[in-house]
Amino acid sequence: MDFIGANILSVGQFERADIDRIFAVADTMGPYARREKVTRVLEGAILGNMFLEPSTRTRLSFGAAFNLLGGTVRETVGITASAMAKGESLYDTARVLSGYSDVICMRHPQAGSVAEFAAASRVPVVNGGDGANEHPTQALLDLYTIRKELSGNGRALDDFRIAMIGDLKHGRTVHSLCKLLCLFKKVHLVFVSPPELAMPQELVEQLRAVGHTVEVTDQLENSISKVDIVYSTRIQEERFASQEEANLYRGRFRLNREIFTRYAQPNTVIMHPLPRDSRAEANELDTDLNEHPSLAIFRQTDNGLLVRMALFAMLLGVEDQVDEYSYPVRWQSRRNPA
Ligand code: NCD
Repeated sequence: MDFIGANILSVGQFERADIDRIFAVADTMGPYARREKVTRVLEGAILGNMFLEPSTRTRLSFGAAFNLLGGTVRETVGITASAMAKGESLYDTARVLSGYSDVICMRHPQAGSVAEFAAASRVPVVNGGDGANEHPTQALLDLYTIRKELSGNGRALDDFRIAMIGDLKHGRTVHSLCKLLCLFKKVHLVFVSPPELAMPQELVEQLRAVGHTVEVTDQLENSISKVDIVYSTRIQEERFASQEEANLYRGRFRLNREIFTRYAQPNTVIMHPLPRDSRAEANELDTDLNEHPSLAIFRQTDNGLLVRMALFAMLLGVEDQVDEYSYPVRWQSRRNPA
């Protein structure tokens, strides 16, 4: 695909060669993300961040990625802080905001809303999550992480096994990741959820149609014993009709050190898109795994910066000029690896 000026709305728009290109550019962003070098390649460019649903890492890493390339970020956080609270349409908001920005990242509670916004925007729009539908940049950073972690274990993206656990019905990160995995070969997927929160059938069929094998279960212990990656997720409480309904599923699958040590192979990689729900009644990924070398969740969030930097550089056509506009950092940076 031609990245310059493109909207990033769904992982369905990528071919495998596009993924290879994004990952190759992401690989070059390490020195900037680690603050070993500074680049001004996007000096003068403005990112409009429009986040109409709660977010910590997606919003901040989009912003930090743009800043690390030398650009500036303007943010709107929460519908009540925007004129949408006065009845302004997505169309008008897009027409206006795109006059102030060179690229826009948007998160919105409704599926399809970011595409609607993008249709009216005069600059590229990146989907930061539209309801239960998609979260394409999260899938890219997840896949980038899987590739890195697998290569440490002598494995590759074609031919690996992954268990996805939790709310697979509403989780946009697992929806996008499954679609992205259709570009690869020989993936074995184990979907672990209560039957009511199962992966949408059309995604299961899409995966099977490309030759992947899919197993569906509600048993956590057995599923983690035979995979390379365990991808845990949060019950998406904001998508349920009531908290009482969400409460029925909270804490159903809890991964902790004892269960992991007993059932998983020692080099199985633990991922989670975060936030993990650390309240006692949920606690799907226990903090007693925090120091475990298999826990990749903070390597995953660090990788998000690399992938988002790569995307911005490519959307604005500067990926080959990042080094040209760089210089060493002047301050002392003491950054420990995640
Ligand atoms: C996810 C999201 O917002 O979809 N978080 C994220 O962007 N990393 C997952 C979640 O909220 O559970």
